Amino acid sequence: MSSENSGSPLGAERLIFLIGYMGCGKSTKAKQLAHRLECPVVDLDTEIVNKSGKTIAEFFDAYGEDGFRSYESEMLKSYNYPPTCVVATGGGLPCFFDNMDWMNANGVTVYLQMEPAALVSRLHNRQKRPLIKDLNDEQLLDFINVKLQERAPFYTKAKIIVDAFDLDAEKLEEVLSRKNS
Ligand code: S3P
Repeated sequence: MSSENSGSPLGAERLIFLIGYMGCGKSTKAKQLAHRLECPVVDLDTEIVNKSGKTIAEFFDAYGEDGFRSYESEMLKSYNYPPTCVVATGGGLPCFFDNMDWMNANGVTVYLQMEPAALVSRLHNRQKRPLIKDLNDEQLLDFINVKLQERAPFYTKAKIIVDAFDLDAEKLEEVLSRKNS
């Protein structure tokens, strides 16, 4: 560990991007990790809602998925991040444009990996998620299996990959510290 990095689980990298499929716990873990690291948390979906004045579902209705992806990418790259912070990203964000490369160039990316069946059991509130709002459990499992295969090449570009099942912020902090030691 270099002297510059000692004492900080972040090392030289000050932006931590949590990525992964819907339901893997990005927003919750981002808040908990930020609390442990005593730094702010930024939730990009929340910032999209705040800036556009539309819920994610309303945004999809008004501009379609293509419109959402452009706005999301613009938000990722233009946001005025505090010097150190934990960023929760939308599940699809790493898989469009050069977003994944941009995050890897600007911080540390952490993929919260979870099995499809576990994701299904955690995705109760589907109404606010336009891509899955009309699916029952069985359809959702099929959908996630397909989507995870499509998204894996992007997600696995993350600098850190962790099993998100039973993950707590303390473990997450440990993993980050290990990477920088
Ligand atoms: C999406 C995930 C959502 C949100 C949008 C699209 C996706 O974020 O950005 O509904 O494509 O996986 P969460 O992962 O926070 O639910």
